[in-house]
Amino acid sequence: MRLTYTSDVWYKNAVVYCLDVETFKDGNGDGVGDFRGLTQEIDYLAGLGVTCLWLMPFFPTPNKDDGYDITDFYSIDPRLGTLGDFVEFMRTATDRGLRVIADLVVNHTSDQHPWFKESRSGRDSPRRDWYVWSDTPEPDDPKQVVFPDKENSIWEYDEGSGQYYLHSFYRHQPDLNVGNPEVRDEIARILGFWMELGLSGFRVDAVPFLIENVTPRLASPHEFLADLRAFMTRRKGGSILLGEVNLPYKDLMQYFGDGLGDQVTMCFDFIGMQRAWLSLARNEAGPLASALRERPEPPKDCQWAMFLRNHDELTLDKLTKEERQEIFAAFGPSEDMQIYGRGLRRRLPTMFGGDLRRIKMAYSLLFSLPGTPVIFYGEEIGMGENLDEEGRMAVRIPMQWSRDGGFSQAEPVREVPDGSFAPDRVNVADQKRDTSSLLRWFQLLIERYRECPELAWGEYTVLDTGHPAVLAHRSDADGATVVVAHNLCDTAQDVELKLAGLERYRLTDLLVDGTVDVSADGVVRLPLDPHGCRWLRAAPPEIPPEDASVKSL
Ligand code: GLC
Repeated sequence: MRLTYTSDVWYKNAVVYCLDVETFKDGNGDGVGDFRGLTQEIDYLAGLGVTCLWLMPFFPTPNKDDGYDITDFYSIDPRLGTLGDFVEFMRTATDRGLRVIADLVVNHTSDQHPWFKESRSGRDSPRRDWYVWSDTPEPDDPKQVVFPDKENSIWEYDEGSGQYYLHSFYRHQPDLNVGNPEVRDEIARILGFWMELGLSGFRVDAVPFLIENVTPRLASPHEFLADLRAFMTRRKGGSILLGEVNLPYKDLMQYFGDGLGDQVTMCFDFIGMQRAWLSLARNEAGPLASALRERPEPPKDCQWAMFLRNHDELTLDKLTKEERQEIFAAFGPSEDMQIYGRGLRRRLPTMFGGDLRRIKMAYSLLFSLPGTPVIFYGEEIGMGENLDEEGRMAVRIPMQWSRDGGFSQAEPVREVPDGSFAPDRVNVADQKRDTSSLLRWFQLLIERYRECPELAWGEYTVLDTGHPAVLAHRSDADGATVVVAHNLCDTAQDVELKLAGLERYRLTDLLVDGTVDVSADGVVRLPLDPHGCRWLRAAPPEIPPEDASVKSL
């Protein structure tokens, strides 16, 4: 496949790394991570091979929702640094070839934002209509309450002005009203501001909430997303929106702009993620295989973003109650591991009891799935969670750089875990010296993923393996093929795959040494270790595998 495509449509096989500046690295010794600390670690990130950093919110905030409650969209939380520090960070990241995107949280502001203070100051305030007010809100539907541990309604009565305001999330996060054209202009201004400072795009928080809960209802809410995307493209071709849209596939496609592909550039595959966890809990390929078979193709130049964990709870809301219980039983049986009745507040390695073979297999699977992989900081070294931290903060713990933590000289903003996932057991410094470490495995996966753009770009086919525990798929692009197989169970398996069009081809293993040959009738017999994974590049015997990706230039 021509590599030149992958520099224009760069996000289609990017490796996205999400981090919170607050918990990544403290550069000034006050216990809180900051831009100076992060900048010092840019070479670590570049060396890992990730190509795009996603920064969680870094704006001024009362910090009641870990920065997702913003009081000023145009500056930096002073605990994390200054705009000057941000620009130096951007400059260094760009120099190392890293792109940067940031969380765009414009469904709501903090109730301490000057806009909301002005809006609530009276019914005739010029900014009244920047938020969603009502005398007689619709009665609550409990399904609409996102954080049922803290809220029981999405409306809050404002004593001062005698009306209710809408808050899809916490009551301290009043919803901005994109029904108001001034608000829409201001949102574009925010995008423009940060793009001018070098950002390549945004991870858009809570997209369905942003466009649906407004007054008056937008005649065509999706037009607003298309307008934003067009604005970005005018300013900087190649900039992207990565949407948090947790909806069934059939409802989600409209966020891509259906066939037009002119709205959100990439959407997280929440359905595939949840079905992957069901597969992992059952050691059965079926649930994930069926999600991949059902999943619609994104419009041209759009892409799915694949993930196993993120900064929130591992939400299992799109599974049945019984399926959710299966995952709880396998990966989070005790109540303090569960949250909101729908998810787990754990990181992946602890859910696998630290079984390195299984952890490595799960990430091999993630990187091989059709789409763009998104990882959460610390996944590359197998960090665990700290259940003593409140709610979702359990997984948002300080990055573990060295045996003594290495995040800060001072008391850190959050506590690291004890026991087998403590920094003396899980840290970057040790894993750099260990060729069999998870960190080195991630580097290999990322290197191979980048060398196999077919995985992200190609047309994929889920293959019949004849074995319930084995998931195999092939990706074809421009006459080149990569075949991948994962054994979800802990006993060795041999599978036979039918590979039409690859008769007499040779498959070269990209993760370990070795080759296997496809028979004259297009069948290959593939041995897999317990929790084994194989990535294989197909090439006719006379072509070296390194050249097989490039049919014609
Ligand atoms: C998104 C974020 C989550 C945040 C919420 C409210 O779902 O991922 O962390 O709490 O929006 O902004």
